[in-house]
Amino acid sequence: MKIIVVGGAGYIGSHAVKQLIENGDEVIVIDSLETGHRESVPQNIPFYQVDIRNKEALKAVFEKETVDGVIHFAANSLVGESMTNPLKYYNNNVTGTETLLEVLIETGVKNIVFSSTAATYGEVTEMPILESTPTSPTNTYGETKLAIEKMLKWTHKAHDLNYVCLRYFNVAGADASGTIGEAHTTETHLIPLILQVPLGQRPHITVFGTDYPTKDGTCIRDYIHITDLVNAHILALQYLMNGGESNIFNLGSNTGYSVLEMIEAARAVTGHPIPMEIGERRAGDPALLIASSEKAKKVLGWTPQYTDIKYIIASAWKWHQSHPNGYKGE
Ligand code: UFG
Repeated sequence: MKIIVVGGAGYIGSHAVKQLIENGDEVIVIDSLETGHRESVPQNIPFYQVDIRNKEALKAVFEKETVDGVIHFAANSLVGESMTNPLKYYNNNVTGTETLLEVLIETGVKNIVFSSTAATYGEVTEMPILESTPTSPTNTYGETKLAIEKMLKWTHKAHDLNYVCLRYFNVAGADASGTIGEAHTTETHLIPLILQVPLGQRPHITVFGTDYPTKDGTCIRDYIHITDLVNAHILALQYLMNGGESNIFNLGSNTGYSVLEMIEAARAVTGHPIPMEIGERRAGDPALLIASSEKAKKVLGWTPQYTDIKYIIASAWKWHQSHPNGYKGE
């Protein structure tokens, strides 16, 4: 396959690029480098530093490169920031994707795999979450991703453009090589923050709330390894190229771990006591989020392999230990 990966220099995008190359696919990367890292993408493949809102520059790339499909990761993705600066999210995520879709239609690209999120569901009481569970986002980030899903639905009805939306649960871990991984300037995710303690970068991890209606009072999440997640994108693209109908799939491991269980597992992996403090609830955090990924397994033939939480944390630990400051200094 010849693929353009939009947002290919981000955490998830860079893992997709690596896996596609290893599979023998031809890969072209577009990234604005607003939050991505040039160092996370091999130097020997075509790379275009283009913002998806810049239609002229974007179209020039698609006119030069004829591809079988697009995987679209480019977005702002901080839930907290999306609440204080909602228009930034509408502008980059929604307007940016609208521009991308115009270019795809004008240049005849027929297949797109889109990076969506469990944040499209909002507060859900019945677990596990199915694709048919009603969507009601509780933050702007999830709302913009849902708006894009709907934009894809209507665009597909009017034009010859097929899509798969993949709703991610908690993506974690790093490639087994330890050469690429999660490196955000503003880090908000649990596993990298826990690992900053054994790295000596923070004195303790703060647990956001212990009064949730869960077994130990802390929030439960469904963690999915990045390699499994990326595999689903490749299967989704093959599915579209084989004539599969436009669709939406959850990507999770169908298993939930509490914040306390995650800290305990990180202690076992790192051999560090990882002191913790109990803090207030973080606004907008649902108590429980667990996916049913049966549909992706059935329709795409997806089989997650790295479901052991200790492996997930160990792969992140390998990356953070060898790159304590992310890509800085590479
Ligand atoms: N947490 C802590 N302490 C911290 C950081 C996180 O206790 O220092 C807790 C959170 O309260 C939450 C859990 O750890 O209960 C996981 O938090 P993350 O920030 O790692 O992940 P979220 O579940 O909040 O967010 C993830 C994705 C988002 C997506 C969301 C959908 O990262 O992109 O799921 O619900 F929008």
